[in-house]
This record gives sequence, structure tokens and C-alpha cells, in this order.
Amino acid sequence: MANLSPLQRQYLDRMGVTVWVSRAGAGAGSETKSGGVEPEAENEQWLTLGEEVASCTRCELHRGRTNTVFGVGNQKAGWLVIGEAPGAEEDRRGEPFVGRAGQLLNAMLGAMGLAREEVYIANILKCRPPNNRDPSAPEVAACEGYLKRQIDLIRPALILVLGRIAAHNLLKVETPLGRMRGKPWEWNGIPVVVTYHPAYLLRSPAEKRKAWQDLQLALSLYPGKS
Ligand code: URA
Repeated sequence: MANLSPLQRQYLDRMGVTVWVSRAGAGAGSETKSGGVEPEAENEQWLTLGEEVASCTRCELHRGRTNTVFGVGNQKAGWLVIGEAPGAEEDRRGEPFVGRAGQLLNAMLGAMGLAREEVYIANILKCRPPNNRDPSAPEVAACEGYLKRQIDLIRPALILVLGRIAAHNLLKVETPLGRMRGKPWEWNGIPVVVTYHPAYLLRSPAEKRKAWQDLQLALSLYPGKS
């Protein structure tokens, strides 16, 4: 695991995790890019994708939305974080993870030595399901092409998945979350680590320690790290 800097310790503190032992190991770098597409063509693809999402009517969720929530962060990030769907605050602001769960996510990233701005954050769904219910299968089917195109453009080195709903819908499995966390998964050749959703961690703070183990697993799997 990583040698923790004072700042990382501060974030862990904010997460509510006390760390007693620190071992030498991985840092938290964020660049792993292999070239490929011309930057202009890539910008164009991002723009087109953003416009498509903003005007999307592929499922009924468009009727109740205030804003689509496209995703935010570094489009060349090594780290991609995937959550479930926007909540009320995200729908209002058009940005993922800006509520209380978002604050905890920021602390989790900080504990890994990552600033929110250097990763990319997106959701399985771009629109808020009413009353924060789980996404339906047709909604996921209508929306998942957008996320796939984002992943193809970002080409992240590692995907961190938050919570059961995101994990099941990205990886197309139904394994209980408790058995998904703690080991590496893969999406189209990209390593994936699954951990608890920060909203769940707010309700079950005793699980934060396990989440920190997952984040350390992610750090250890990040390409170029040992
Ligand atoms: N929960 C999510 O899964 N995504 C968000 O953007 C906010 C809360």
C-alpha cells in the first residue's frame, strides 16, 4: 500500500478511517496514456457526446430531469470513478457526486493521493431516477452506450466502481457486493476495483475500513505501480 503523506492521512481522517500501520508501496500517479486518436478528433467526439446526452430522450427519465449529469473531471484521467445515478443535488447542479456522498468520495480520493479534478467521475445513468430509486434495466440499456463512449475516449488505466448497482450494471454480473470487493475485475481489458458506495458508507461508517482496503487494492493494481 501507499506511504501516506500527511494530506492523505488528513483525508483518511475525514473519511473516518484511522490507519495504524503504514507500509511502503504504491503512490497514486494519474497519467497512463497510450496515444492514438488526434486530439482535435477526440475533442470533437467529446463535444458530440456531450450534446447527445444533453438532449437525450432515450428513456422516460428525461421528462423529470432538471439537468443531465454527463460526468466531470480530467478527460485524460488514468482513474475513472463510476457511480450509480444522479441524486437530487446532482440533478440540480448537473455534476456527479456533489452532495454528501460526493464529499465523502472526495475524501476517499484524497486518501489515495488523488484530487477530484485529476480523475474522471461518471455514473451508469445520466439522469436522476425519481425518488432515488434503482435504475431500471431499460434505463440502463438506453444510457450505457454513453458511458461506454466516455470510457473509450478516456481510456482509463483503472476503473473504480462505487456500489452494487454500478458494479452489476457495468460488469454484467449479479454477484453480491461483499464478494465483488477485495479482488480485481476487468472491463474490456481495463482493471476494475469495486467498493462500497459512499452513500452506503455514510449510513454504515463501520464499513469504511473495508472501503479503504479496496482503495489500497486499487492503488496496488494501478498500472505502473507495485
Ligand atoms: N450517487 C451516485 O451514484 N452518483 C452521483 O452522482 C451522486 C450520488
